Amino acid sequence: MAFWTPKDTPMQDCSPYSLKPYNTFALARSCRELVHATTNEQLIEVSCRLYQAHEPMLILGGGSNVIFCADFAGTVVLVETKGIEVSADAENHYLSVAAGENWHDFVCFCLDNGFSGLENLALIPGTVGAAPIQNIGAYGVEINDFCDWVEYVELQSGKLIRLRADECEFGYRDSIFKRQLLEKALITRVGFKLPKQWLPKLEYGPLKAINVAGVTPRQVFDCICETRQSKLPDPKVLGNAGSFFKNPVVDSTQFDVLAEIYPNIVGYPHGLGKTKVAAGWLIDNAGLKGFKIGGAAVHDKQALVLVNTGDATSKDVLTLAASIVEKIEQQFGIRLEAEPRMIDANGERSL
Ligand code: FAD
Ligand code: EPU
Repeated sequence: MAFWTPKDTPMQDCSPYSLKPYNTFALARSCRELVHATTNEQLIEVSCRLYQAHEPMLILGGGSNVIFCADFAGTVVLVETKGIEVSADAENHYLSVAAGENWHDFVCFCLDNGFSGLENLALIPGTVGAAPIQNIGAYGVEINDFCDWVEYVELQSGKLIRLRADECEFGYRDSIFKRQLLEKALITRVGFKLPKQWLPKLEYGPLKAINVAGVTPRQVFDCICETRQSKLPDPKVLGNAGSFFKNPVVDSTQFDVLAEIYPNIVGYPHGLGKTKVAAGWLIDNAGLKGFKIGGAAVHDKQALVLVNTGDATSKDVLTLAASIVEKIEQQFGIRLEAEPRMIDANGERSL
């Protein structure tokens, strides 16, 4: 097992056990111990041992969906396992991918090898292992459209269990791993089934401008990368965790009332009698773009993204988020929920 040593850190100004290089919001928090788990055996051994000893433990992939609210009083286990296995039958390509593979690199691997379907999910930061947890989604595709199975280790028993996609209870930014299996499971591998017959998904936003005749997966990939780069801040330049809030799902009757007052409000049908409201629109139209508390700010190009302007503290981020929740509830009667996971000294907490 590779234990972290100060010389491994990519940033010179980090104290030992700093978590700053391991969270895309770049919050300068620390932990007691940091473990780089590069093989499945190491990952399973260390995480089950800590879990069974009731030691505070945090499993971390790319750190792109976490906000450290305090220094972590235990061990952070970094999932760095690698490996992609490919097989096929007459209809599909099958890929079995280690949890520590980088998501975007995996999308590129698929594209380079002629396995199409995942191109709409290009440039989403993080690891393959974390992707099923909130059922990552963008531009009309969610991982559950192509997920075949998810393998996890049950931390209490050390047993490896494989769930079929239809057992994962996937929903909008949701899955069984945020519910019944919360803090009980470590995802070790994910299986994908990519049909050989490619069906481009071109219904969302900028993709609509692409001519469906003769369109290639590479064209879709390029359009997604270009769109994301123009809207979303690059965490290497400006710390952030992507959308800070989920798009709230409300009764369509409530939405219709709001639409009378705010004719430009953006919402999408989301199942029977429900509407998913664009939280970015709400925050933007509450006049909060650019609103800043300490080093934390509402991004000036995308109001759903909060950013670290350089020296944000956890308190700045939490105070800013709480002010936004309060203002949106006052103005629109809708309570926003955080999308990233709030991590306190001993584990997860709510916003
Ligand atoms: P982490 O942040 O490392 O972990 C997230 C949570 O999962 C934590 O609670 C952690 O304990 C747990 N976890 C991580 N790995 C495992 C594992 N192997 N087993 C068990 N638990 C684990 N998301 C979208 O859905 N769509 C987007 O378009 C999108 N765009 C983004 C853009 C930017 C610029 C950023 C910064 C984020 C964006 N996100 C988006 C959010 C984020 O990229 C995803 O949630 C991603 O899947 C998180 O992966 P990660 O490896 O960084 O997870
Ligand atoms: N909008 C505004 N002002 C803003 C931001 C957005 O008016 O400041 C409006 C836009 O004009 C648009 C609508 O809100 O009409 C939706 O905006 P956008 O298409 O940018 O998408 P989003 O709802 O803000 C969601 C996901 C993203 C995902 C994109 C593309 C959530 C919480 N966020 O963002 O996922 O990449 O759609 O599919 O569902 C993430 O989860 O971290 C993430 C980035």
